[in-house]
This record gives sequence, structure tokens and C-alpha cells, in this order.
Amino acid sequence: MDRLKGKVALISGGARGQGAAEARLFAAEGARVVIGDVLDDQARTTAQEINAKADGHAAVAIHLDVTRAADWRAAVEACQREFGGLDILVNNAGIFNTTGLEDTTEELWDTVVNINQKGVWLGMKYAVPAMRQRGGGSIVNISSVAGLTGSTGSTAYHGTKGAVRLLTKAAAVQYGPEKIRVNSVHPGIIATQMIDIIPREMRERFTQVVPLRREGTAEDVARMVLFLASDDSSYVTGAEFVVDGGLTAT
Ligand SMILES: NC(=O)c1ccc[n+]([C@@H]2O[C@H](COP(=O)([O-])OP(=O)(O)OC[C@H]3O[C@@H](n4cnc5c(N)ncnc54)[C@H](O)[C@@H]3O)[C@@H](O)[C@H]2O)c1
Repeated sequence: MDRLKGKVALISGGARGQGAAEARLFAAEGARVVIGDVLDDQARTTAQEINAKADGHAAVAIHLDVTRAADWRAAVEACQREFGGLDILVNNAGIFNTTGLEDTTEELWDTVVNINQKGVWLGMKYAVPAMRQRGGGSIVNISSVAGLTGSTGSTAYHGTKGAVRLLTKAAAVQYGPEKIRVNSVHPGIIATQMIDIIPREMRERFTQVVPLRREGTAEDVARMVLFLASDDSSYVTGAEFVVDGGLTAT
């Protein structure tokens, strides 16, 4: 119950889906949580739901567009102002599309890179000084199985998720001596609004090749993120954690 007692976490894209599941689980494990998202109403609702269940002031929502340095600065300041510091960053915000290489416009490329890749770098850039003040911390970057293997489309998505994998290792090497751990999580097919764009029959076909024969849930991923955020993973950094029902083993 208390695996994150006394810790403060900032979760980007925490209004819904996996980020919201992580916010709920972290709060249930004793953390104070700042939920940053561009979906302001939904982020507020998620924070209110957590506070209704928690003993007191456990969650706040803040407007965070991960592509904007000023928003990240304000989000880290909110962690310090509301809860006294920052121990955990989950770089979870992301967008998905299935567009292939030649059909990808420059505008789409820039949008995907800005959110999925630049957003992760900016989050780490502003979180690290706050974690240093606390004597360490844990950063969990949400990549994807699309950051490990290719497919016939989703070109910009693959590129950015692959970049998140190595941004993670580079940061882990740089900040290990300061006790800031950095790991990446690689979810497979997870039933959230993100994959509503994939036709139902295609999702059923995908599920047939997943060894565990089902789509993952946001909670399946959240439990892995909790492990990496907590001191249970105290000697784990620079590593990649697949949560895909066995998909990449096939
Ligand atoms: N669902 C899957 O199958 C799957 C698989 C592998 C990886 N992922 C990754 O998991 C993460 C969470 O996705 P999800 O499945 O919960 O999907 P989701 O679409 O429900 O959640 C994504 C969240 O990111 C937020 N977001 C988007 N752009 C943002 C921005 N500029 N600034 C701040 N927040 C922004 C959205 O508002 C949303 O709340 C993403 O990084 C995604 O790429 C998802």
C-alpha cells in the first residue's frame, strides 16, 4: 500500500488512459501526484476522483503541453509548491498515427517528433534539477514496442519511440552518479482511446498473435511503471521493460 509513501510524482498525459491509471495507482501507494495534460477538464476530473478516494490533498491537475519549455517549468514548480519537491517523472504523453513513410507530411512529422520525442527530453531537462535537490529520483519514459520493432506504417511514431529508448539510456548514464534512475517502458497493444483509430477487426487479428491472447489494460502497464518509480527497482537504470503479453517474443 505504501510503496511510494512520501514521494511526489509528475505524470505527463495523466488525464486519461495509461497516465490516469498510473496517477490512481501511485496515489493509492501513498504518492502525491501532479497530473499534466492538454486535456484540462479531464485532468481536473481525474485529480478530483483521486482526491475523493485519498486521505486529503493527493493530486492536482495542471495545464502541460509537453512541447513547451515554459509549461514544464511551471509543472515542476507546481510539484514543489503543492507538495515540496519532485521524486518521480513519468513521461507518458504521446500521440499515435499509422501513416507510412511517403505519406507522412513534414507537418505531421514535426508534430509527432515535438510531442513524443522533444516532450520527453524537455520533461527530463526540467525534472532533473528538482530531483537533484532531493538527492535522486526515478524517471520512467513511455516508449512502445514500436520503439523496438518496425511495421509497415506509423513511420514517425516508430522513429520517436525508438528515440525515447536511447534518450533514456543516455540520461541514465549521465545521471546515474546522482542517483537519478531512468528507464523505458514498452507497452504492446493497450486498450485505451489512443488505439480507437485501429479498426475492430484488425485489433482482433492482432490479439490472435499475442501469446497471452488479449489486449493489455492501462493497469497492466501502470503496475510496471510503479515498480520502476518505486525503490523496489533501486538497482535498475538504463533498461527497457516490455509489457506486451509476449508480442515481441513471437
Ligand atoms: N495504447 C497503446 O496501445 C500504446 C502502446 C504503446 C505505447 N503507448 C504509449 O503510451 C502512452 C500513453 O498513451 P495511452 O495509451 O494512455 O493513450 P491516450 O491517448 O489515452 O493518452 C495519451 C495522453 O497524452 C496526452 N497528450 C497528447 N499530447 C499532449 C501534449 N502535447 N502535452 C501533454 N499531454 C498530451 C493526451 O491528452 C492523453 O491524455 C503514449 O506515450 C503512447 O504512445 C500506447
